[in-house]
This record gives sequence, C-alpha cells and structure tokens, in this order.
Amino acid sequence: MRIVLVGPPGVGKGTQAKRLAEKLKVPHVSTGEILREAVREGTPLGSKARETMERGDLVPDSIVDEILRGKLRSKACENGFVLDGYPRNLEQARTLDGFLGESGRRLKRVIDLEAPDAVIIERLSGRRSCRECQANYHVKFLPPARDGRCDQCRGELIQRTDDRPETIRQRLKVYVEQTQALVELYEEQGLLRRVAADRSVEEIGQEILASL
Ligand code: AP5
Repeated sequence: MRIVLVGPPGVGKGTQAKRLAEKLKVPHVSTGEILREAVREGTPLGSKARETMERGDLVPDSIVDEILRGKLRSKACENGFVLDGYPRNLEQARTLDGFLGESGRRLKRVIDLEAPDAVIIERLSGRRSCRECQANYHVKFLPPARDGRCDQCRGELIQRTDDRPETIRQRLKVYVEQTQALVELYEEQGLLRRVAADRSVEEIGQEILASL
C-alpha cells in the first residue's frame, strides 16, 4: 500500500502517518523527521538544511529528492509506505512518480487532511517534542503525565525551532503558494480523498482507513 498524506503544517500528518503505518505494517517516511535528525547530528545534509527549515522555507528539491530516492529503494519500502511531507510541490510530485515508475510502482491513495487555520495554529504553537526520543506531545491535547518531561524516556520536552509564531506564518504561506496545488493534481488523477482533520485523532484515523 503506497500512501501519501498532504495537508498544511500542523494539521496532524505525522500523528496519523505513524498510526497508519503501524496498522498497515509499512514504514512511515517523513522527510521532515529525516532532515531534523540530520540537523541534530550536525551532518553535512543537516548543515545545508538547518537555516532554510528555521526560516520555514522548503529545502531545495535536489536535497529531499536524494533522501527520498534512498528510502524508496530500500527493502523496507518494498511492500509500501506512508509518505508524510513529500511531495511538497509539483516538481516533487513528478519526481515521486518517476522514482516509483522505475520499478513499475504507482501511488495507491493520497489523503488530504484539512482544518481551519485557527486549529492549525493552536496545534503547532502547543506542540512539544522530546529532545531524546522525539516523541510528540501537545500542551493541551496530548499533555505528558509530568510537566516538561517525556512519558517514555523522561527526556526534556522542547518546542521545535520552526514552531515559533513568525516561522509558522511563513510555513503556512509556503504551503498555500507551493504545496496546495498538489490537491488539485491528485484529485484529477483520482487518487485524492479529503479527510476533515478538525476532529479527534481516533475519528480521523478511522476515516483514513475507510478511505483506502
Ligand atoms: P515537516 O516535518 O514535514 O513539517 P510540516 O509539514 O510543517 O508538518 P508538521 O510536522 O509541523 O505537522 P504535522 O502535520 O505532522 O502535525 P503533527 O501530527 O505533528 O517539515 C518541516 C520542514 O522540513 C519544512 O518546513 C521544510 O523546511 C523541510 N521539508 C520537509 N519535507 C520537505 C520537502 N519534501 N521539500 C522541501 N522541504 C521539506 O501534529 C501537530 C500537533 O497537533 C501535535 O502536538 C499533535 O499532538 C497535535 N495533534 C495532532 N492531531 C491532533 C488532533 N486530531 N487533535 C488535537 N491535537 C492534534
């Protein structure tokens, strides 16, 4: 099962992609997570991407395409994947089709998660992540048992550098200008299902499963 999740920053793609990947027993591939890990580890890839991510802009296609190619060729993705954060523009969508086409594969479904801006901003500004294991929390919707500490590893909970108000505004602008066009593209291809994301994690997850 080859699935792509699209939708604005903070709408809940990562939350749903992780659950769905576990249910379907395929890898969850998040280009944002891979880039953040490279930044944390200070690799050459991380140094190239860090400033762009902190500004809320898109990392150059050449960099993310390379990451994706490696992932899609891996044995782990042989039976499918849940892609979260890629493609991010029309060029990346063409690249994805090309990569899959090389081995006679095609996308099965694209899920578009949608929610009003106010919901998105509340989700992003309240998100906290564990510095050690990167587990995600939310100060209101998914609070940890102990303030500021991860339930799983007791690591410190921090705010992502791109979840500051000025960067959130830029990320939303970039989404409208560069990513939203994908919704129309995949609708024309008959792959798209729209799922209202202004609901509980459980309800959204059930609708996604039903739409596959
Ligand atoms: P990326 O990591 O992909 O960020 P994003 O698309 O902006 O999405 P987020 O991770 O911020 O949010 P999400 O939709 O996954 O929401 P989440 O589930 O966490 O990319 C980061 C950056 O990397 C980009 O800006 C860019 O620079 C670069 N990049 C990545 N891919 C790229 C590409 N292909 N090309 C170029 N550059 C690229 O949920 C958010 C919060 O809400 C959490 O706290 C969660 O607990 C809570 N929540 C989730 N669902 C619910 C719910 N139903 N009810 C209540 N709370 C909820």
